[in-house]
Amino acid sequence: MKIYVWGTGCGAGDLLDRGLDPREVCGFLDGEGRDGSFLGRPIMAPDALRGRDFDLILVASRQAEAIAAKAEELGFPREKLLFCRNNWSLQDRNLSYERAARVLPEELLEELRRPQRAMRDPMWLEHSPLQDRDLENDCVRLRSLEGICRRLEGIPGDAAELGVYRGAFARCINALLPKRRLWLFDTFSGFAEEEAGGQAAGLVEAHRLADAKKLLSLLPHPERAEIRRGLFPGTAEGLEELRFALVSLDVDLEESTLSGLRWFWPRLSAGGFLLLHDWANPKLPGVARALERYEGELGCALPAVPLCDVCGTLVLTKSRRLNT
Ligand SMILES: C[S@@+](CC[C@H](N)C(=O)[O-])C[C@H]1O[C@@H](n2cnc3c(N)ncnc32)[C@H](O)[C@@H]1O
Repeated sequence: MKIYVWGTGCGAGDLLDRGLDPREVCGFLDGEGRDGSFLGRPIMAPDALRGRDFDLILVASRQAEAIAAKAEELGFPREKLLFCRNNWSLQDRNLSYERAARVLPEELLEELRRPQRAMRDPMWLEHSPLQDRDLENDCVRLRSLEGICRRLEGIPGDAAELGVYRGAFARCINALLPKRRLWLFDTFSGFAEEEAGGQAAGLVEAHRLADAKKLLSLLPHPERAEIRRGLFPGTAEGLEELRFALVSLDVDLEESTLSGLRWFWPRLSAGGFLLLHDWANPKLPGVARALERYEGELGCALPAVPLCDVCGTLVLTKSRRLNT
């Protein structure tokens, strides 16, 4: 079979880590102008497939709505597309699972067939600067971020994200906190080598393909962003005096998460929030271990509330005295 994967990010990496053999894949489609290769297979623009013969496209991106429209424009037959993310809105987008059953494990197919419910927006969050494409990514995570940002009025400090990747979450922070400086820490070329060893190949490969310049062009207020490129905590040198009202900590692996907690928690303002992404993610157990180790070092448990978002964020907060 001639199979293509649409996406060169975590979704594509995940398909491979969950059993899709990269030798079965002719190429990876990327609608955002990336080229080169992904796990030894060429990356190409979706337009390059126009008029060419293929059997199946596994859509491994969350931008299902936009990709469905683009595929229609290019004349790709709907029955040859299998949406592996966000395949349900009110009804299943996938017309057939037959071809995919030849290359994907049954367990994954079962998961895709299960109905996913459309979610209503909270009524109290009117006039949101977030766009549908942000919410499609993870509605609970993004709407919670919005609620948290609205509570930050009067709390001093900048915003920061450690672990930015292609900037999907950073873009939302920047949109919701347009007046705050936003520090963005990432290697923009993936995990530290000593941490990447032993991790799933798709996860590691997917994170190599980020681009700091492109990220700036996606931000609604790029003038507020400060990019620190390289391995953290080295990239925080000289910034010790900063204080933060909001920190997103999203580096997936244990040692980097621990470095992030050690550096950011003491610098979080009273009343501020630290969002620990993947804390309850069974695929990334190092995140919860890092928090346990840090709490062990402090000798106390940090006040925290779990979110029921896709990857299990834990929201940590520092209490603040009221001026009475
Ligand atoms: C899961 S991605 C971040 C996703 C992003 N927060 C989002 O929601 O779209 C993890 C990122 O952490 C970065 N990273 C991991 N360890 C790091 C370290 N020690 N220093 C800098 N960046 C690191 C990787 O390069 C990768 O881009």
